[in-house]
Amino acid sequence: MKKAIISFVTSIIIGFGLGYLVFGVIMGDSDKQPQVAQTGPTEDVAPTEEAKKEPESVAVDADNILNSKGCLGCHAVEALDLQGGATGPDLSKAFEGVEDKHGKPLDEFLKEPTSAVMSSVISGSPLTDEERAKVIEMLKQASEKQ
Ligand code: HEC
Repeated sequence: MKKAIISFVTSIIIGFGLGYLVFGVIMGDSDKQPQVAQTGPTEDVAPTEEAKKEPESVAVDADNILNSKGCLGCHAVEALDLQGGATGPDLSKAFEGVEDKHGKPLDEFLKEPTSAVMSSVISGSPLTDEERAKVIEMLKQASEKQ
């Protein structure tokens, strides 16, 4: 009887041991697979979304006069979806707002700004007549969108 009890106990221990091992392997595998599956798609999705956005905004920015003259370094134009620096005000309403704010219409302001920062921007890099016309055209568009 004692032998039977001992072999019963050892078989239980071995059974548990094997079960534990097999279970550990299965659980270990099934743990890994979802992790790979989860990180895979999210890593895949994020870059493609960014990759889709980047060329669009670059294309919009690269074409326009505000970017090529460096205006977007200090100004955003939200009405035209143009991201820019926060040093200067958003130019969405500048077409109509400049005269009230600075005492001269946009065209005059861009020739000879009355404000300190813009004076040094324009005297450092004056706009040609053509460039000024393009800026005014863009800011007119922006003000009409609102
Ligand atoms: C170094 C930063 C900087 C750059 C570059 C810059 N601006 Fe400005 N701009 C300002 C700041 C700051 C103001 C606010 C008035 C001030 O303090 O001079 C301003 C004001 C203006 C205003 C008047 C709008 C308002 O609501 O007061 C217009 C229009 C404008 N900028 C157009 C431009 C254009 C066009 C360019 C590109 C040729 C440009 N700016 C480049 C900083 C900049």
